[in-house]
Amino acid sequence: MCGIVAYIGNKPAKSLLLEGLKRLEYRGYDSAGIAIMNGKLNVARAVGRVSMLEEKLETLDGFDGSLGLCHTRWATHGGVTELNAHPHKDDKHGIALVHNGIIENYSALKTYLKEKGHTFTSETDTEVLAMLIGELYEGLGSDLEAAVQAALREVDGAYAIAVICEKEPDTLVVARKGSPLFVGIGAEEYIVASDAAAIVAHTTHAFALDDYNVVKITRSGFRTSTIHNVPVTPKIEQLELDLQQIELGGYPHFMLKEIFEQPQSMRNCMSGRIDAKDGRVTLGGLSNFAKDLTRAKKVILTAQGTALHAAMIGRYLMEDLAKVQAQTEYASEFRYRNPIIEDGTVVVAVSQSGETADTIAALNEAKDRGALALGVVNVVGSSIARQTDAGVYLRVGPEIGVASTKAFLGQVAVLTMITLFMARRRMMSADHCTDLLREMEQIPAKIERILEQAPRIKRVTEKYIDRENWLFLGRGYNYPTALEGALKLKEISYIHAEGMPAAEMKHGPIALINEGMPAVFIANKGRQYEKVLSNIHEVRARGGHVIAVATEGDEHIADHVHDVLYIPEVAEPLSPMLAVIPLQLMAYYAALARGHDVDKPRNLAKSVTVE
Ligand code: F6R
Repeated sequence: MCGIVAYIGNKPAKSLLLEGLKRLEYRGYDSAGIAIMNGKLNVARAVGRVSMLEEKLETLDGFDGSLGLCHTRWATHGGVTELNAHPHKDDKHGIALVHNGIIENYSALKTYLKEKGHTFTSETDTEVLAMLIGELYEGLGSDLEAAVQAALREVDGAYAIAVICEKEPDTLVVARKGSPLFVGIGAEEYIVASDAAAIVAHTTHAFALDDYNVVKITRSGFRTSTIHNVPVTPKIEQLELDLQQIELGGYPHFMLKEIFEQPQSMRNCMSGRIDAKDGRVTLGGLSNFAKDLTRAKKVILTAQGTALHAAMIGRYLMEDLAKVQAQTEYASEFRYRNPIIEDGTVVVAVSQSGETADTIAALNEAKDRGALALGVVNVVGSSIARQTDAGVYLRVGPEIGVASTKAFLGQVAVLTMITLFMARRRMMSADHCTDLLREMEQIPAKIERILEQAPRIKRVTEKYIDRENWLFLGRGYNYPTALEGALKLKEISYIHAEGMPAAEMKHGPIALINEGMPAVFIANKGRQYEKVLSNIHEVRARGGHVIAVATEGDEHIADHVHDVLYIPEVAEPLSPMLAVIPLQLMAYYAALARGHDVDKPRNLAKSVTVE
């Protein structure tokens, strides 16, 4: 989504704001803008990356103050134009506002404000909010905090906002509902951001706003209240984010860094949670709900995108190992389908960011219908983490690359642990659990072995780089892995790719296959290996070029395919955690070879906080 940074203190705001904005650029990069108070309000906006705004600022005077705010945008209302970029201003009082989220009733508010004589310059919902604050300002004693509170009482939708006003040159007002916002507390300075990544370089002392909270900040202190002006005491905490985690550390791209971090992030994810010797999984977050999980009649896993692919693997795991009925649902469809939630239903929301609007909506729908709500989330304290009854964090560290990699693996690992947690309490033997946990412990080292093959994976990918259509095929546990491989390739290399169950191909999509079309098969040793081999022959017979992800030691497969990428042998239920690694690297090298900006793919943004 979009990114917000705001500052009030004694330092020059401009460089500090731009530095913070660059750290948030992965959240949106269509356009950017800044407003600085320097006697009067100065605003600059630019289409494109933050660097474009930076270039523009070099030619402008008046941006030297120590109070300001800025924004990087992922367009929702209105196209990518300078007029639609934030900050937006009112037309009377020199109020400037940046906003993440959607004002759902903006159209009615706009009509009302037009009748009051206001003139709009953009197509955005955000400008409506700026105008509304301006409209209410005088009537509330020219008090920015009161005007923001009053305006937000009229608003439906989601927001994280930061607001300044020319008439109150020492005040910053920020507020949140449904979209994250943090206030970092320094020495006589405050830095506000929609993501802790923009704060940690300055202070780790911070608090997260709760929904409907408004904070008025001056250089000498701050006051937190609700939109109804009821005082609130915020919970100030230490941000647990290490600057190293959000820097490239010598890698050319965050995506590559995060792919290579996976052995370590898997170790962190499993640390203290699995005990292979005793065949036991300990998940603190679920301990109070062990009985509910033991007796669960149905598990609904809901998510979007990559997280949905992880959820699909979770479904296979739960049915196969915990013997519980499980289903997966696109969160965006689930909510509007009038779903049936019976007694004993557990809903699991899977999300890296914990802020995906569709997933939050599905979760709330299931909760309203009486389901026990669990979260499998990476970002600590995120909306999903707060709104679920219980959950398990991924502990894979911040994911900055827009294309999700280490979070996918973390989601699969956590769902595996939840499955084993349930399975042992249902009917799995200690020996069976011990075997799987021993194998899990070896996953990080096995990923390391796959990563050593990166140069070969690059060479194989480059052979096919001029092909515009690819297929990704797998069966059983690795059908979702095939979907994930196709999604990764699509989102960063813009190559058309389809993932599907290998057997489904002959029911129609086989018509697509022509001479030289790449088909990536996940053909590891397992229950369906022979069947996958037959599917490989079906593709080859029609001229397709097959790249197989196969199990080390399977020399035989090389006679049937054009290229083989090997993964170490592993128990079938755990195989997606290895099979996905070559696919992540293939997508990365394909995008690189095509000259794309891997970390900032077109039209995308990390974390989609609109439905
Ligand atoms: C793809 C990707 C997206 C996300 C999806 C859900 O690489 O990152 O498909 O998986 O938008 O996001 P979260 O996991 O934050 O809910």
